[in-house]
Amino acid sequence: MGRGVADTGCREETCVGHGCGVREDGERDVSDETVTPGRHTATASSAQPDVLTPLLRERESVMIYDRTHVLSTPALRAILEAARWAPSAGNSQPWGFIVGLRGDETHAAMVEVLSSANQVWAPAASAIILTLHQVATDEDHEIAYSDYAMFDLGQAVAHITVQARSMGLQVRQFGGFDHRAAAERFDVPPHWAVTTGIALGLPAEAGADDALPEWLRARSRLPRSRLPLEAFVHSGKFGHAADFLTD
Ligand SMILES: Cc1cc2nc3c(=O)[nH]c(=O)nc-3n(C[C@H](O)[C@H](O)[C@H](O)COP(=O)(O)O)c2cc1C
Repeated sequence: MGRGVADTGCREETCVGHGCGVREDGERDVSDETVTPGRHTATASSAQPDVLTPLLRERESVMIYDRTHVLSTPALRAILEAARWAPSAGNSQPWGFIVGLRGDETHAAMVEVLSSANQVWAPAASAIILTLHQVATDEDHEIAYSDYAMFDLGQAVAHITVQARSMGLQVRQFGGFDHRAAAERFDVPPHWAVTTGIALGLPAEAGADDALPEWLRARSRLPRSRLPLEAFVHSGKFGHAADFLTD
């Protein structure tokens, strides 16, 4: 798939005079992030099967973004529309998004609350979005709480990842930030919980990572892996492998 620069925004050098934002530089400290062990065994496959739609096959959580790409307003709106049209329990739509665009005040405030490892890569993305889900009915009882709120938010974010991919962009979701500081900084009401972050942008060209820390380059090149279907698909009873997987 093409990198889709034209319909998602533009690079800064092509944006001069169009109010497209500012270039950012700056390295931060090194990572101590680890990959969760446990069920992620050597049996997991790193090959993305051809049966997947290309939008899913080509999706990955990119860590190295083109820091000159500027997200256009129509592109941003399209991505948010994807979340808007996600399904939710009783059509409750219990999600919220705080959007920072690289170069604006919101983005700068978000960068401040990121974990030190996420501060190394996330600021280069064209947008950082904090996600929220509803955790209680509001004081006016206008918004009823749903037990499925976090689930619904997850679906909305999944829609964002697919819509972004269709536009040549990628996202990396993250939980590594100070949730309490974010809630305070953005005046989040008590019946909402700050949940995750999303870095959204144009993947950097191959070879554009020379100035980045070695840990980041190494991590971004790690093969992607997944559990086999047999590890989580059951039939008859939990723990029983489904026939259609073993036949
Ligand atoms: C809820 C959630 C939290 C995550 N937190 C972080 C994070 O703090 N930092 C980071 O670099 N990646 C984070 N990730 C990205 C995952 O590490 C990544 O999705 C996973 O390794 C699978 O890679 P893939 O999406 O390319 O298949 C997070 C992803 C999710 C869904």
